[in-house]
Amino acid sequence: MILSGLSPLLRIPLLSGLSREALLRMDPEIAHGATIAALRLGLAPEQEGADPPELRTTLCGLDLRNPVGMAAGFDKNAEVPKPLAKMGFGMVEVGTVTPRPQQGNPRPRLFRIAAAEGVVNRMGFNNEGHEAAFARLKGARVGAILGVNIGANKDSEDFVADYVKGVTRFAEVADYLTVNISSPNTPGLRNLQADEALTRLLAAVLKARSRASVRVPILLKLAPDLDEKALDGVARVVLATDLDGLVMSNTTLSRDAVAGMENATETGGLSGRPLFNLSTMRLAQLRQRVGTLPIVGVGGIHSPESAVAKFEAGANAIQLYSALVFGGLDLLDRLKRGLAAAVRSRGLHSVAGLTGATTAEWASGRASL
Ligand SMILES: Cc1cc2nc3c(=O)[nH]c(=O)nc-3n(C[C@H](O)[C@H](O)[C@H](O)COP(=O)(O)O)c2cc1C
Repeated sequence: MILSGLSPLLRIPLLSGLSREALLRMDPEIAHGATIAALRLGLAPEQEGADPPELRTTLCGLDLRNPVGMAAGFDKNAEVPKPLAKMGFGMVEVGTVTPRPQQGNPRPRLFRIAAAEGVVNRMGFNNEGHEAAFARLKGARVGAILGVNIGANKDSEDFVADYVKGVTRFAEVADYLTVNISSPNTPGLRNLQADEALTRLLAAVLKARSRASVRVPILLKLAPDLDEKALDGVARVVLATDLDGLVMSNTTLSRDAVAGMENATETGGLSGRPLFNLSTMRLAQLRQRVGTLPIVGVGGIHSPESAVAKFEAGANAIQLYSALVFGGLDLLDRLKRGLAAAVRSRGLHSVAGLTGATTAEWASGRASL
């Protein structure tokens, strides 16, 4: 309470002080809790000025004031979408939320690979459940495009039914929904990416959407560990439905990019800078298979150059999480300025013009950062 009474001028150094040196010295999960608490207290630095007009774009019919989003997993319980919007994210994806609350895996379950600016997590969908998130979001005016990422309880007897519940619960409060079938930390979940299971899942989810009061766009979030043959299957299934878009990617099980480093052998999904090349290659391979279907590019974005590369590989909008741990909150501002500069230097008018410029290079594995 005392902190929340501080003047805005004092708040900025406080949170940035907390988010860099101090936070990196803490246990990662405690640091995350402290960050959420600080945001809840209103200590977030607020964006100064409006976004450059070049950054305005659309995604699945939604107007984004800028195309940079907070990825799922940071605000699992929808506690701070509004402060995140004020900080300057054009889109905030909360969740993953499951129908019933669940504790997730035992701690420790979140690890930094500092030498590579990577993160390994095996959180296991720790969250307070649908009702808690819904109560926070109902009637909330977030100030950015709000995505709700939906999942299944670990002990559920019917994963598909859990996603249907997610659509039914959140259709009226979300600008879009993400069906997350790519977390490596819920046993069996990623099997839903296989042809037959995916066909059944999407049919059920889209049927639930048709019964809801609003036609909320639905995206599907995929793993970067799908090979080209698996991507063929996903594309075939998805293009036969009226799914609105895809999110590429979640974390990877691969450790090639961090072999031998501290924490690299921890079980879980790897994210952050060492994920960039793999997830961007998969994004480009997906782009080649789905035509103009919207894709949100996520995975390892850590610099303006990498943000531009995600678009050029085929993204229509981007999200990040892990690099904020190492780069601090001013990274968001640098990404947006870098994207706007890239748009101008190429003689374009909108960030949408960057999409797909180098898809072939990224898809073939020839491109890397
Ligand atoms: C600690 C942590 C928790 C995450 N939890 C979720 C989650 O609940 N649902 C989800 O779809 N993705 C989750 N993710 C994955 C991110 O949304 C993102 O896809 C991935 O980290 C790659 O982006 P990044 O390299 O910018 O972090 C999580 C990532 C991290 C690091």
